[in-house]
Amino acid sequence: MDSMLNTIEALFTTGEPFVNRFLQALNGYRIYINTKCSNLEPIQLIFATVAIMWLLRKVKLRMTPNLNESRRALINRKLFQMLMKVPFIGHYIHNEIQKTKEAVEKELMSPFKNEKFYVEVPRNGYSVDEVVEEVKRYQNLSRIKWQEGRVSGAVYANCHNDDLNNLMSTVYSITAYTNPLHADIFPGIRKMEAEVVRMTLSLFNAPEDACGSVTAGGTESILLMCKAYRDYARYVRGIQNPEMVVPVTAHAAFDKAAQMLSMKIKHVAIDNNSMKVNMNAMRKAINGNVCMLVASAPGFPHGIIDPVSEIAELGLKFSIPVHVDCCLGGFLVPFVEKSGFGELYCDFRVDGVTSISADTHKYGFAPKGSSVIMYSDKKYRHFQFSVQTDWPGGVYASPNVGGSRSGATIATCWASLLYHGFDGYVKATKAILTTTNYLKEELSKIEGIFVYGEPKLSVIAVGSNRFNILRLSDDLSTKGWNLNPLQFPPGFHICVTLMHTTPGVANNFIEDVKTLTAEILRNPNVKLKGAAAIYGTAQSIPDRSLVSSLALQYLDSYYTTTFSSD
Ligand SMILES: *Cc1c(COP(=O)(O)O)cnc(C)c1O
Ligand SMILES: *[C@@H]1O[C@H](CO)[C@@H](O)[C@H](O)[C@H]1NC(C)=O
Ligand SMILES: *[C@@H]1O[C@H](CO)[C@@H](O)[C@H](O)[C@H]1NC(C)=O
Repeated sequence: MDSMLNTIEALFTTGEPFVNRFLQALNGYRIYINTKCSNLEPIQLIFATVAIMWLLRKVKLRMTPNLNESRRALINRKLFQMLMKVPFIGHYIHNEIQKTKEAVEKELMSPFKNEKFYVEVPRNGYSVDEVVEEVKRYQNLSRIKWQEGRVSGAVYANCHNDDLNNLMSTVYSITAYTNPLHADIFPGIRKMEAEVVRMTLSLFNAPEDACGSVTAGGTESILLMCKAYRDYARYVRGIQNPEMVVPVTAHAAFDKAAQMLSMKIKHVAIDNNSMKVNMNAMRKAINGNVCMLVASAPGFPHGIIDPVSEIAELGLKFSIPVHVDCCLGGFLVPFVEKSGFGELYCDFRVDGVTSISADTHKYGFAPKGSSVIMYSDKKYRHFQFSVQTDWPGGVYASPNVGGSRSGATIATCWASLLYHGFDGYVKATKAILTTTNYLKEELSKIEGIFVYGEPKLSVIAVGSNRFNILRLSDDLSTKGWNLNPLQFPPGFHICVTLMHTTPGVANNFIEDVKTLTAEILRNPNVKLKGAAAIYGTAQSIPDRSLVSSLALQYLDSYYTTTFSSD
C-alpha cells in the first residue's frame, strides 16, 4: 500500500497541485485508518471485511433491477418503499391502496347483484334449451350498450349483420371439434389455414417466397415473431443476449413477449407533436445486440403510423430485421388506397420490412381468436417453430404457442375472408374512415380539447391543455360511452369500428363531447372522482410496482365468484 502510493505520488510530482493535494488527503486517511485499526487483530479485520462484503452483496441483490426496469424507475421504487416505511405516511398510503383494491373488486362484481355463481359442476346435466337460456341471460348482464356502438374498438364487425352471424355459427358448428395439430385427420383445416396465410400475404404485396402462420391473436403473432428474431440472432448471428427496439407507443404485447422470452426491450421516445417514433432516438438505441426494430401501423394509443420506410432503411443499414405491427390496421391498410383515402406505404413493398402482423379478428371481422404473422423469408419462420425430436410421445413439431388448437377459429376466419371479399373490405374501410375523418374534424373544432397527431386510420386520441382529460372520458362513460384511457401523456381514444358507422352514432358522440367539455370548462379544476381518480392516481404513483400490484388485484378479482361482505 505504502509503496504503491509512493509510486503514484512519484508519477504525479510534476502534475497539477490538485493531484498533490488529493494524494496528501488520501495519505492522511491512510494514516488515520491505520491508527484506528492498530488495536484490531488481523482476524477481526478479515471478519469485518467478509461481513461488509456480505452486506453489500445483499443490498446489491435487492437493488438489482429486473431486466427491463429503468434506473429511474428503480430509484423511484426504492424511494417510495422508504416513504412507505415512515409510520404515518405508510399507513395512509396503505389504506388508500386497500380502498382502491376494494373499489376495483366491487366494480367487477357490480353486474352480478342478484346472481349466483356456479361453483360446482351441476350433478345433472342441463337440457340444450336450459343451457341456451342461461347463455342468453349471461349475455344480458352487460350494462354497456356495445350493440349501439358506444364502445371503442372491442367489437369490430357489425353485430347486427345476421348474414355474417349465421354464417359464423354454421361454420363453427361444422368445424367445432377439429384440430389442426392432426393435419392427417383434418386436411381441410390445414388447407384453410394455408389459404388464410397466402391470401393475407397477397394483400400485403409479399414477395414470392414469403410465408407465415395463423395464430390465436395479435399477441401470439408478436410473441412468435419476437421468438423467431431472438433465436435467429442467437443461432445465425451469434448474439448472446438479443434486444428488441420498439417505439414507446408499440403495443404492450411486445413487453409481454420480452418478459416471456427473457429479452431486453428498449422503448424509443416519440416526437411530441407527430406522435411518431423519433428516428434519432431509434438510431441511438441500436447496438450490436439489437435483433429487431419495430414500427406500428398504426400504434394502438394514438392511431399514428410510424415512419415505416425510415425504420426499414435503418434495418437494412444495420442488417436488423424490421417488424411492422399492423395487428390493428391489418384489414384496413390494404384497402385504404382503393377506398380513396390516399396511399399508405407500409407493407412488404418497403425494402427492409421482414415481417408484418395483421389481425383477422379485428377489421378482418372474424370472431376473436385469429391473427396472421407474415415473414418475407422462411429463414425467420423456422425459428418461430418448435421441434422436440426425442420425446417418448413421438417427434413433436408445432408452429405456434398452443399444441392442440381450434380448427373452428381458422375456419371462421377463412369464411370471413371469403364472405367479405376484397370489395367488401374496401366498402367497410371506406365507411370506417369516413366516420373517423368526420369525428376527427369535429373533435378538432371543440374548444378545450385537441386531437393527438394526424391519425390516418381508425383511431383518434384526444387530450386537453385546459383540464384533466380523464374527467371528460369519465363524464362520457356516464352517457354510456366506453373509451380507452391513455397515459404519458394523458388522454383517451376512440377506435372506430363498423359499429360506429351506423347513422347517428358519430353525431351523438360529438354532441356529448361538446356538451360535456363546455360543462367542464366552466369549472376546469375540480378534483377527479371514480374511475378517473383511480386512473389519475395510477399515472402519478412513482412506484410502478404499486400500480402493478393493483393490476394484479384486478386480475385476481376477475376470477372472483363470491361477494366480499361489506
Ligand atoms: C390489438 C393489437 C395488438 C394485439 O392484440 P390482441 O389483443 O392480442 O389481438 C397488437 N398491436 C396493436 C397495435 C393492436 O392494436
Ligand atoms: C336484460 O336485463 C334487463 C335488466 O336487468 C332486464 O330488464 C331485461 O328484461 C333483460 N332482458 C332479457 C332478454 O332477459
Ligand atoms: C415531450 O413530452 C414529454 C412527456 O409529456 C416531456 O417530458 C418532454 O419534455 C417533451 N419533449 C419536448 C421536446 O417537448
